[in-house]
Amino acid sequence: MAIIGTGSIAHSHVKAYLAFSDRCKVVALVNRNIEKAIQLRDEFQLDGLILEDYKELLHNQKIDLVSICTPPQLHAEIANDFLRAGKHVLVEKPMAMSLEECDQMLEAAAASGSILSVVGQNRFLDPHWKLKRTLDSGLLGRIVHAQVDSYWWRGDNYYDLWWRGTWESEGGGCTLNHGVHHMDMLLWMMGMPQSVQAVISNTSHRNSEVEDISIAILAYPDGSLAQITSSVVHHGQERQLIFQGERARISAPWKVFASAQLENGFPERNRELEREIEQFGDQIEPLQHSGFEGQIDDILTAIENNSAKVLIDGREGRNVLELITAIYEAAITKKAVSLPLRKDSPFYSRKGLLAHAPRFHSKRALTASIANESSPGGGDGDGSSHE
Ligand SMILES: NC(=O)c1ccc[n+]([C@@H]2O[C@H](COP(=O)([O-])OP(=O)(O)OC[C@H]3O[C@@H](n4cnc5c(N)ncnc54)[C@H](O)[C@@H]3O)[C@@H](O)[C@H]2O)c1
Repeated sequence: MAIIGTGSIAHSHVKAYLAFSDRCKVVALVNRNIEKAIQLRDEFQLDGLILEDYKELLHNQKIDLVSICTPPQLHAEIANDFLRAGKHVLVEKPMAMSLEECDQMLEAAAASGSILSVVGQNRFLDPHWKLKRTLDSGLLGRIVHAQVDSYWWRGDNYYDLWWRGTWESEGGGCTLNHGVHHMDMLLWMMGMPQSVQAVISNTSHRNSEVEDISIAILAYPDGSLAQITSSVVHHGQERQLIFQGERARISAPWKVFASAQLENGFPERNRELEREIEQFGDQIEPLQHSGFEGQIDDILTAIENNSAKVLIDGREGRNVLELITAIYEAAITKKAVSLPLRKDSPFYSRKGLLAHAPRFHSKRALTASIANESSPGGGDGDGSSHE
């Protein structure tokens, strides 16, 4: 396999591939800034090709799979080239910059029969796995409300990195680049809504065109609602997913509460149901591989079994982008947006989004690279520090 774009997140990919060194080997590292590829090779003591131009790998017979870890505006173009050349692709989030690009990627994958998977490593964490399995058990009854808090905190300097903070190169703000993880999990657990209303704002980042907070309300066909806050202005970064069923609530971080009604309709605690839910949760086996390792195990298994079945395929990657696009469209047009989004929506293409997106501030400072980590004690609320 090969890594295209050997910046910050590529480290997590390499570590995960190395955990499966009996099943795969990293044989090429590509960066248009060759120094960055050399650094990664030396850090992990890899051997193999170091290249500036990924196109040199398109017909390399040694390569079955590529991880695309470049900035988002290049995801579609690079993925399409590899998919058309018959290589399997694991592309970093966000899958692409527009639904039009996602559709091109899906077509390229279908035409060659290659696997297209989109990174969503948080699905492969025990608390989220437990939440999903327990929701699917039906113990809570119908889900009536979901609360998604994608709370992060980033200072102005964060937007100094050259590709962040503009609609052209980042594609959007915290809704697209941070909220994407929790939105992926919400859709995994609750499915697609039928309409979206939203507001976006930039409250605190003067070195960025894009939003630093968005609040969206999702309506489902059965009348249930979900609310999503995507933010990089929340101190403490306490991210959570909370589901209210007709009979009980559960969440990640894990907490169970069940109410039953008294004769007058006021609540009394249903401890028996709480015990039942806890017991169900306790018997769920911990995942064998967690985070990036879980996702890479998933795609390696699909390749080994000659199957296209991955947990997060291109269709699911597209669904998240459709939700995010609907949030932008609703916020920008100040109107509720119905899903599925139509191809004649101006927001279907990158050009359309760029024509309508508000530029909150103009971007000033630029730097070629920046570290992607928090300081020790930086306090990522749910332990998943990766964006
Ligand atoms: N899954 C996660 O939790 C997570 C976390 C951080 C970033 N990301 C995503 O990963 C992607 C990369 O983010 P990053 O923080 O690693 O960025 P980065 O800037 O640190 O790394 C990107 C690298 O791509 C290289 N590059 C640019 N154009 C290239 C080209 N044409 N060919 C080869 N290399 C090229 C750059 O030189 C740079 O080294 C983004 O899509 C980002 O949203 C995902």
